[in-house]
Amino acid sequence: IQTPQVRIVEVGPRDGLQNIREKVPTQTKLELIRRLRDAGLRTIELTSVVSPRAIPQLADCREVLGHSSVKALFQPDQAGLRFPVLVPNVKGLEIAVNHGVKEVAVFISATEGFSKANINCSVEQGIARAGEVAGLARKAGVAVRGYVSCIFRDPFDGPTPEAAVLRCVTSLLAAGCYEVSLGDTLGVGSPSNVHTLIQYLTSHGVPIDKLAGHFHDTYGQAVANVWEAYTCGMRVFDSSVGGLGGCPFAPGAKGNVASEDLVYMFHNAGISTGVDLAKLVETGEWISRQLSQSNSSRAGKALSIK
Ligand code: HMG
Ligand code: MG
Repeated sequence: IQTPQVRIVEVGPRDGLQNIREKVPTQTKLELIRRLRDAGLRTIELTSVVSPRAIPQLADCREVLGHSSVKALFQPDQAGLRFPVLVPNVKGLEIAVNHGVKEVAVFISATEGFSKANINCSVEQGIARAGEVAGLARKAGVAVRGYVSCIFRDPFDGPTPEAAVLRCVTSLLAAGCYEVSLGDTLGVGSPSNVHTLIQYLTSHGVPIDKLAGHFHDTYGQAVANVWEAYTCGMRVFDSSVGGLGGCPFAPGAKGNVASEDLVYMFHNAGISTGVDLAKLVETGEWISRQLSQSNSSRAGKALSIK
């Protein structure tokens, strides 16, 4: 088997579902994870352990993490695969660790407005809280991934200064995150913005192999943003099957870049992802039907009509 040249972090079961109002049955979530794994995704964010008042859709995180099919993913024979769970605080970390989770993701915002709305604290407090969670996780032998939201714009505060993003990235890396995913939460950035920000971060000492891209697709720029980041040397990208995704605290933002669209783009360029595109397309069609919504993946739709 060819080693993938880019790593895709499938966030469908977490980012993809978190903003859906109608309760998605736990069985459907488990089936989604199973199908994604079967399609060759090697990193899948399984759920989040957050306040059920903040994100009612993922209030069944304990059932998901406690199910035998998910527990099996935490066994040592799954080496090389990653199944992170998003946690906002020590409480979330403890619940995750008690369920056998081997990797968590902490998240902060580069901007005050979204930080307050999303995690009810200032940027400073968010950095401190994420640092504490990361430190405890590392002590428990749990790997930690980091997210920085609102890299280009905040829904309340407007444009984000690059220095604010740099501060968050360096804090998360210093806290022990093995990589930091740059979140365009509102999906407003374009390739020129991506280029400028990556140049800024790397020229200030952030290694490109510590960065991942997390692009929402509100303005239809997400695939182009991924390609731009790739040409800047980035090799890890977050995406959601069927282009699902969004955050209740970022009103109007659309889903993540669709995993099918990314895989299609990379495979056309001869860049391996390790993903079986046909199976992924099937999964995108299946989950769209389950959620009674149209498939937001352009490649997924095109390939499923063929
Ligand atoms: P708070 O109200 O300040 O916290 O919320 P609190 O400690 O006072 O707790 C409030 C209630 O939540 C309490 O319950 C706690 O027990 C409970 P009550 O006593 O009132 O019944 N609670 C929890 N329950 C389960 N798991 C936990 C947990 N923590 C507290 N871990 C808090 C602060 C951070 C908890 C809250 O604001 C929160 O959960 N926020 C998460 C919001 C969220 O998940 N947003 C979406 C994910 S981020 C995202 O989508 C962006 C990303 O995709 C990247 C990008 O696109 O930019 C990652
Ligand atoms: Mg997101």
